[in-house]
Amino acid sequence: MSFLEYAPAPESRAIVALRPSYGLFIDGQWVDGHGEAFSTISPASEEKLAEIATADEHDVDLAVAAARRAYDRTWSRMSGADRGKYLFRIARLVQERARELAVAESLDNGKPIKESRDVDVPLVAAWFFYYAGWADKLDYAGLGANPRALGVAAQIIPWNFPLMMLAWKIAPALAAGNTVVLKPAETTPLTALLFAEIVQQAELPPGVVNIVTGAGPTGQALVRHPGVDKVAFTGSTAVGREIAKTVAGTHKKVTLELGGKAANIVFDDAPIDQAVEGIVNGIFFNQGHVCCAGSRLLVQENVHEEVVERLKQRMATLRLGDPLDKNTDIGAINSREQLDRIRALSDIGEQEGAERWSAPCEIPENGFWFAPTIFDNVSTSSTIAREEIFGPVLSVLTFRTPAEAITKANNTPYGLSAGIWSDKGSKILAVADKLRAGVVWANTFNRFDPASPFGGYKESGYGREGGRHGLAAYLKGESGAGATALVPAERSASQKRRRAGGAV
Ligand code: NAI
Ligand code: MG
Repeated sequence: MSFLEYAPAPESRAIVALRPSYGLFIDGQWVDGHGEAFSTISPASEEKLAEIATADEHDVDLAVAAARRAYDRTWSRMSGADRGKYLFRIARLVQERARELAVAESLDNGKPIKESRDVDVPLVAAWFFYYAGWADKLDYAGLGANPRALGVAAQIIPWNFPLMMLAWKIAPALAAGNTVVLKPAETTPLTALLFAEIVQQAELPPGVVNIVTGAGPTGQALVRHPGVDKVAFTGSTAVGREIAKTVAGTHKKVTLELGGKAANIVFDDAPIDQAVEGIVNGIFFNQGHVCCAGSRLLVQENVHEEVVERLKQRMATLRLGDPLDKNTDIGAINSREQLDRIRALSDIGEQEGAERWSAPCEIPENGFWFAPTIFDNVSTSSTIAREEIFGPVLSVLTFRTPAEAITKANNTPYGLSAGIWSDKGSKILAVADKLRAGVVWANTFNRFDPASPFGGYKESGYGREGGRHGLAAYLKGESGAGATALVPAERSASQKRRRAGGAV
């Protein structure tokens, strides 16, 4: 190791006091689960962190019943201002316990501490602060006067942003006056369980927030439960499809936030150094376990070589390793299953003729790791240009004209996000208007704000989270529709603009 190397700078684990085992959080109490308990591990070391209960059908039933009682007796009768006070209290407790939550998240998920500390946890607090402000202003949500809550919300979240997804789900649901039963992912349950402690600290009425742990079958039991009025899901398209089928024909409202295969479009007039940072952030942030990751780089042909060269130079400086080290850029892959998927899809990429290059970094002995990788000369029809890899793997494609960039960007079954890099504002606006993606970033990537709606088209799901739109998903408005009610109106506005012209 040369003297220019960084010395290890590990964040202390001492701030997190994990219990050896966790039960379910139902009706304000910790109770045993009746399913078979399982372990959650640190994907960076494969060390067991805690024993986690599995909620079976009976436990799910108890949780839904607790949420229903809390809805009928307290939460739906409380004024919006009072609900808001509880949400502000949660937001402040998240801030007070921020370091602990960040360390627990990095341990359980494998993400670098600099991300959990500087992105995930601050956004969790921001989400609760934001929706706390809405709780007494629902009349202004654009759904008519006095919109009413739906009732009991079943919320199922993935492992890539465990606490952040919890906040995206719970904050708007509670602000709108619903009670919730939330199921975290089986590889990352810890921060949801720490959040249950925060719910107790905030003295929320029992049953307003219930946390049930377990894998797919627990999720299925929750989705099927007749006492549930709303299902909110973030995860794979396959499970999203299954959920849509299960709730079809019932009274349950549903929002699905599924996968993506976002195009990050770099024009030749873009500030290249900034674009390279944006490409790196777009695909290597959170090991690429990001539904809106910029996993397809579309680069204008005349700057292709330069961009790829500079990208490789930058990738060679990324530091992979201990998620708790403050200098780590790339943490661990969340699970062995996910690592296997990333490896399998990357092998297919090679077999289909794309050129593979991986950053030269040392891979730790234990745990699950994948070096940041790019595939150059990828064709539109290639598997790695179409399927979500959900790992630190970038596919590079080229284009010549803005029209070709738009066609290629939209040539995907998904439609969650996109990025545009150009010095020219008019070009950015004209291209953005033609992209079928829920979020379009200009000269930046992976930026989140609680006031900004987020969601997809096509196989990326339906409904919006965040902002005023995110409230609609948890309210009965005059229109009688859920989150999607607001979306077509906005889409048609942009379609009108499109019909009016605006050549790119
Ligand atoms: P998954 O969709 O199986 O898991 C997400 C959540 O759904 C977890 O809490 C899981 O326990 C639950 N679940 C699983 N089966 C269920 C069912 N039948 N009914 C109700 N809930 C169920 O995703 P998985 O297997 O962890 O990842 C597979 C792929 O999905 C990834 O490689 C990635 O491509 C994609 N994915 C996308 C995410 C996103 O944010 N859009 C998040 C996680 C995965
Ligand atoms: Mg884990």
